[in-house]
Amino acid sequence: MARPVTRFTCSQCGHESAKWLGRCPGCEEWNTLTEEATASGGRANARGGGSPRARAARPVALADVRAHEVARLKTGIGELDRVLGGGLVPGSLVLLGGSPGIGKSTLTSMALGNLAGAGHRTLYVSGEESAAQIKLRAERLPGAALSVPVLAETDLDVVLATLEAERPEVVVIDSVQTLVASELTGAAGSVGQVREVADRLTRLAKARGIATVLVGHVTKEGSLAGPRVLEHLVDCVLQFEGERERFYRTLRALKNRFGSTNDVGVFEMRQGGLVEVADASARFVGEATRAPGSVVLAAMEGSRPLLVEVQALVSPSEIVPPRRVCTGIDRNRLALVLAVLGRHAGIGVGSADVFVNVAGGVRVDEPGADLAVALAVASAARGMRLGRPESPVACFGEVGLTGELRSVAHADRRLAEARKFGLAPVVGPESVTLKAAIKEVLPTARPVAA
Ligand code: TYD
Ligand code: MG
Repeated sequence: MARPVTRFTCSQCGHESAKWLGRCPGCEEWNTLTEEATASGGRANARGGGSPRARAARPVALADVRAHEVARLKTGIGELDRVLGGGLVPGSLVLLGGSPGIGKSTLTSMALGNLAGAGHRTLYVSGEESAAQIKLRAERLPGAALSVPVLAETDLDVVLATLEAERPEVVVIDSVQTLVASELTGAAGSVGQVREVADRLTRLAKARGIATVLVGHVTKEGSLAGPRVLEHLVDCVLQFEGERERFYRTLRALKNRFGSTNDVGVFEMRQGGLVEVADASARFVGEATRAPGSVVLAAMEGSRPLLVEVQALVSPSEIVPPRRVCTGIDRNRLALVLAVLGRHAGIGVGSADVFVNVAGGVRVDEPGADLAVALAVASAARGMRLGRPESPVACFGEVGLTGELRSVAHADRRLAEARKFGLAPVVGPESVTLKAAIKEVLPTARPVAA
């Protein structure tokens, strides 16, 4: 038997080295080399052509490939099943990320409980909590959470052997950062360890058709530790987010090979576990003030849509020049939007102070916020609420210097997000001009002396 061979890989640039070095020769970063296992010996022939023993395989035409419809495993948690694209796919890997205390263990325990209750073979592997601690939590949860078999273990080999012996249909690994592959010397949770653990679990999951949920902690930089090494490996990446002081939690797919990434699941943490929030729009309808000067912006936060409230206040001023104060948006864009509003939409705020604020301390650094600023200021200047009283207006779009609205990236995701939270109408670049957009949501507008 060949001895397991390890190499050291830079977590920043991927440079490989046979021995550990304090500084990476590739990118000159310090302390980035981490140990990883390599397949022993069998490197492909350097001259190309592969090993002489390998026989050529025959590629098949996609039209001839027989793909049968797989029955998905329903977790019984509607919001989770929807974000997954209809339930867990057998043999697939799902990475569930989130900061500590957000409810990852609670969500996965509830899902396994429901699956066990429906007669599926399940297993909950915990490297963080003892069986007794898991039991204490399960006692608080509804359904069959107490009937899920648990394994409190951190040794990867023991976990893999148990999976081989038990052959569950669904397994939860809580968390992937606590398992250790004994042939690597790196500490649990290091990039090399996490990659090795995930890699071997993936191979077993695919070979045995076990739907595997890997729970992962988010580092303080906000990425799944270690530096996104798992994201390409798994089929689905779910992000569980929420504000600590609030009870709401949102679940989104950042990547999903078996479904869309546009869906958002909303939960509330209660005494008896996580409860699905069916009418999520209540959150925004409740929090957005709906007063004159308020509008909801369908913004993008990286590749993810985010709904935020933009507020404006227009008040007469004695100061020359009047104040232009904004938080959460760019000052220059505010100046631009005010100029276009006055010149092309007939809403001049010349001698008034203008304050614009993105509620909740959020910062939106994208041109798509222009229309929200314009509508909020128009609404504040006219002293009239936007849209109908029963549903808040959402908007997105860039304002051009000639008064036109320009399209922005991910319009479909922004629309889907706004619709998901029950906002209507959603005003966007299809209104063509800023003037038309204002007319659409401020129909009976009449000027108010500023
Ligand atoms: P947990 O699932 O352990 O978080 P994670 O695995 O993401 O670190 O749960 C986190 C919090 O949820 C914990 O502080 C206690 C709280 N909680 C409830 O409020 N109600 C409940 O029914 C349960 C099980 C937990
Ligand atoms: Mg946990």
